[in-house]
Amino acid sequence: MNLISSPGRPLQGVMCVPGDKSLSHRAALFAALAEGESRIENFLVSGVTQAMLQSLTALGVDWAWEVNKQDGQRNMLVIQGRGLRGLRIPDAALDCGNSATTMRMLAGALAASMAGALSAAKVTATLDGSAGLRRRPMNRIVDPLQQMGVNIQASDGCAPLTLHPSTFPLKAINYSLPVASAQIKTCLLLAALAAGGPTSLVEPGPSRDHSERMLRSMGVTITAEKVYQDGKVLYKTTLTPPKGRVLAPLSMTLPGDFSSAAFLIVAALITPGSNVTIQKVGLNSARTGLLDALLSMGADICITAQATHSDEPVGDLIVKFSRLHGTNISGEQVVRMIDEFPIFAIAAAYASGVTTVSEAAELRLKESDRIAVLCEELRKLGVQAVEQPDGFTIQGGVAVQGGVIQPHGDHRLAMSLAVAGLASQAPVAIQDAQIIAESYPEFTQTLQALGGRLVVE
Ligand code: S3P
Repeated sequence: MNLISSPGRPLQGVMCVPGDKSLSHRAALFAALAEGESRIENFLVSGVTQAMLQSLTALGVDWAWEVNKQDGQRNMLVIQGRGLRGLRIPDAALDCGNSATTMRMLAGALAASMAGALSAAKVTATLDGSAGLRRRPMNRIVDPLQQMGVNIQASDGCAPLTLHPSTFPLKAINYSLPVASAQIKTCLLLAALAAGGPTSLVEPGPSRDHSERMLRSMGVTITAEKVYQDGKVLYKTTLTPPKGRVLAPLSMTLPGDFSSAAFLIVAALITPGSNVTIQKVGLNSARTGLLDALLSMGADICITAQATHSDEPVGDLIVKFSRLHGTNISGEQVVRMIDEFPIFAIAAAYASGVTTVSEAAELRLKESDRIAVLCEELRKLGVQAVEQPDGFTIQGGVAVQGGVIQPHGDHRLAMSLAVAGLASQAPVAIQDAQIIAESYPEFTQTLQALGGRLVVE
């Protein structure tokens, strides 16, 4: 499928974005480990969350959709929890599709679930996925899980992963993560639920804390503190396993995904005459680094209707076309906008002056090498994008041309380049654009409804 995006019309209107991807993954998995029925409203229905739900089905978890009486949408997920150690290990490999979040979080959940109770049985759990997922690094979870006594192996540091039963309880550890990563942190927090005492994890940056918030609401004691070492701020999270290893079920409404809203925000900022309101967006500060970056570039964005829903901050964003100027991004801000660099690069291309991104080598390990591939595809549109080992430089303000683009199996790259075409000199055609449905299936319709000239061929 090709998606063709053309310039010439302002974006106007009021929209919502689908439920948060990170929260959807967590809510489904944590609910499966709880005791009792959980109800999750505004759950994201997309390729990657489907991978999580299908894996949960394979693990014996019952779940169903319920229709929301107000809007008729089937987005209320009802899950019957099996308890922390109640997952049923299937013979076949669990297929995590393209979703590293699914694989890493399931590994932690299986580590807890397979500790002790089944040690007499000859059971093997296998986690596998697409060719793209098989290239993602998995030693970052395998090494610390092995330190906890989990019987887990990778294949050359990558998927497929295999797990066998290990002794209960698992070892409580104090572990310093080599990179700030909510996926590693969540994997280890889940395993730590089956540990013999408190587990502490120290990160070099403020990765998203959705798991901590959600697990606390399920009755788990988790503390978070900043520690100072050699002049650096580190982020320490400590989990104490709950009494009886029981997690209370969830009842929550998920906010709109800031990472999906990001595409609409930048689309409105770069398309002349635009004025767009995006309602009920998650505004957890560990996720909104892009907002700070855009504001520092001169963006006209107003935040209204701020509230807290299900322990997560939310608000409405009013975004108007703006003349942006370049900026520099590094350090903690990289962590707080880790998924937003492809769309940020589009804002930078339309801004005047130079934008630099550094200390962001982690971008090379995402759905694609988001430094090399992003710069390569931007250059096809005439953007002066220069790759560095840990980031990139964009000389903005040079007219963005039309062209044919390949997203390299990366949903965020596909959507970012489609946004670029809304204000370019000529249309931008995105090949293999079906990948967008991995995280934001309604992307094209939403931009069309706002007035954007997008056509599927
Ligand atoms: C995610 C964490 C991030 C992010 C990913 C989702 C999560 O990965 O890139 O899209 O839901 O925890 P890392 O934590 O590995 O940086």
